Parts: sequence; structure tokens; C-alpha cells
Amino acid sequence: MISFLRPTLSGRTLATLLVLLLCCGVSLAYQPKGYNYDEAKVPAYKLPDPLICEDGSPVTSPLQWKTKRRPEILHLFETEVYGKSPARPSCLHFEQTSCSDEALGGHAIRKEVSIWLTEGKKGPHLDLLIYLPKSSRPVPVFLALNFKGNHSISNDPQIRLSRQWMRSSADSGIVDHRATEKSRGVASSRWPVEMIVKRGYGLATMYYGDIDPDFDDGFQNGVHPLFYRKGQKKPAPDEWGSIAAWAWGLSRALDYLETDCLVDARKVAVMGHSRLGKTALWAGAVDERFAIVISNDSGCGGAALSRRHFGETVQRINTSFPHWFCGNFKKYNENESALPVDQHELIALIAPRPVYVASAQEDRWADPHGEFLSLLHASKVYELLGEKPIASQEWPPPNKPITGTIGYHLRTGKHDVTDYDWNRYLDFADLHFRK
Ligand code: GCU
Repeated sequence: MISFLRPTLSGRTLATLLVLLLCCGVSLAYQPKGYNYDEAKVPAYKLPDPLICEDGSPVTSPLQWKTKRRPEILHLFETEVYGKSPARPSCLHFEQTSCSDEALGGHAIRKEVSIWLTEGKKGPHLDLLIYLPKSSRPVPVFLALNFKGNHSISNDPQIRLSRQWMRSSADSGIVDHRATEKSRGVASSRWPVEMIVKRGYGLATMYYGDIDPDFDDGFQNGVHPLFYRKGQKKPAPDEWGSIAAWAWGLSRALDYLETDCLVDARKVAVMGHSRLGKTALWAGAVDERFAIVISNDSGCGGAALSRRHFGETVQRINTSFPHWFCGNFKKYNENESALPVDQHELIALIAPRPVYVASAQEDRWADPHGEFLSLLHASKVYELLGEKPIASQEWPPPNKPITGTIGYHLRTGKHDVTDYDWNRYLDFADLHFRK
């Protein structure tokens, strides 16, 4: 009896413990203990000046910015933060695998396009899903990576189910690292496709794991090995990590969009949430073809200033996700003041193009105030280039968006992408694309 009961009891205890751990894990993911969430405890810090060159000379003209200072800052981010990415492969080619003009109850065109990175049809390829409003003219498009496969953004049964590796999740119907039919539409609350199309915009998306599966495997899968030199086994310390690879994938999607006559490729807004918000910012910094750049709750390594040491820190992100940034970024663990750049200069790299940063009030892990401050400190570069600085020096209260060339809002609620966020992005795109 005892020997029967004991395993049962310990089984229950174990189960309870597991539930407790999982619960903690969920809240831990958003606000782990041991990090600073108190504005009064933000250390004193000095930001690098985006308008002072490395030789100490001030930047006084747009030409100087363009030819000297911008390349300096870009180089520092490439070598010390995200890592350098390769150029577009010469054999890049596209294959349309489906097309319907009966999507969304007949209101939209839906296409699927495979982007092949090497000759023929071997090696990794990226699957782009596109919804377009029916229009007599090429339409502006939002381009954004997704976390759970193209089929997760909508219940549309015609979308091809991803076969790629994914993080297992019973709730999302991902079993043994593969999507099942149950995962159709699981992320649809973050993707208001009908609303986007109704407002005259297209939406193009692809699964970020097509570019590089999001786990630390020493860069053996995904796109990295395609570019190794003879004998090379992993990226050098100044070469691309996963964020840079995902951003590179966004540029390859834009390469395709440029060939699609239904799309106005001069009006592509790149958008991303969380780690993919970091990615969207880096994509917009590196690739000046992106006309608008939008970061949703991107936090550490995205829009938030690293030197504030508020919420997630450089050390923590490099420890939890060693594959996201380049090897050199680890030099700045608990050593942010030594960083030759800070994230306001990432925003400055996007200037003079419109940029929008969104924060969520409960998302303290991502340092909402630090996200706003990046925009504020990038403003002088926008001004130098003839654009207006951010419209308010003060961090605005929740749900009071700031608009202009630099847009910002702090939404009430948690780390997520909501219709409130999308409505602001659509308004922002209207402001700039429909002038
Ligand atoms: C973690 C990570 C963040 C990241 C987020 C996400 O919370 O610490 O840096 O933005 O995951 O991408 O979901």
C-alpha cells in the first residue's frame, strides 16, 4: 500500500510542482526577478552622440551624415551587435506556388511564393504568403515575419501548412516540433488581415524559422551554412546571428515584392513584434528600400536603450538567446557603457524615413520608457535631414499616440500585437503613403 501510495503522491506533487514551475515560467518570461523595474534605479549613463564622428568632428550637413557618420554607425552595429550579413545571392529566384482571387470572401487576392536561395530547388527556401486588396493600381504592403507559420495567421484552409521545425506547443497544435492542422489560425488575433486589406494595404508574411530555426544549434541549420567559406563551421564573431539572418530574409522577401506588379514596392512597411520587432528595426536600418519601419514591443536589442539597464539586460539576452546577436555583442554583458553605440542610433540609421515604435504598459521587461527615449535621442538626426523631431519631449500617457515622421504609442495592456496597434500602423501608413 505504502509503496503504491508513495509514487502516486509524489506523482501528484511532481505534477503540482510542474504546474507551479510552468506558471512561474510564464510570468518569468515577462518580468523575471532580479532585474530593475524601478525608474529611480536607472543608473546614470551617457549616450554616444549620433552626430559626433569617431574622430570627434561634429556632423553638420546631411551629406556628412550620409557619407561619413551613417556608415560609421552602421559598421559598429554590424560588427558589434547584430553581425554582418551576406549580399543577395546571385541565383535567388521565385516560384509562385498558389494564387486565388477568391480570398477573404472574394475581396482579396491570396498568393504563396517560394523564395529559393540557391540554384534549382534544393536547399532552404522561404515561403511568402501574400494577401492583396483588389485594386487597379499597385498597392502598398506591410511585410512582417510570423512566429508559428503562415497557416497560423488565419483560418483560411488554403494556406499551406508549414513543415518546418517549430517550438512544440500543445496549445498551438505544434507536436514534436511540427505544425498540425490544429495550428491553423492560432495567431490570428495578431493578424487582422481583413482590416488591413479593407484599408487598401497588402500583407506579406513568412515564418521566421524558414530563415533560421530559433534555437541555438551553433548555426548548422537555416541560411547560415549556405554562406560559409571553405572550412568555416560557424559565423565569425562579427558575422550574422539569427536576428541579422531574419532581417536578411525580409530583404529577400522585398526582392520578390519588387517583381510583383500588383505591389508598390516603393511603399513597403516592414513591421515586427518582440524579437521580430528587433529584426524589423535592423532590416530597416540595413536595407533602405524599406519605406516605413515599425517596431512593436521590441525591447532590449530593439528600440530600448541598453544603457538604462531596465528590464531585460544585454547579459540576460545574450545568455537566454546566445544565437540572436553576433559573438562580439557578448563583450558588453554587464558592460553596456562600453558599447560603441546605443539603440537610439539604430533608429537614427532609419532616418529620414518614417519610423514607428510601439510599447505596452505592462511590458516592463521591454522597457517602454527606454523605447520612447530612443526616438527622442534619434530626433536630432531626423532634424539634420530636414524632418521634424518627435512631437513630444515627454513620454506620453497610455493610448495617446504621437504621430509625424516619428510615431510612438504606449498601449495599455501586455506584450502583444492588438488591433489597437494595427490601427495606429495603418493610420501612420496613410499619413506617409497617401500624401
Ligand atoms: C523574450 C526575450 C525578449 C523578446 C521576447 C520575444 O521575452 O527576453 O527579448 O523580445 O522573448 O521575442 O517574444
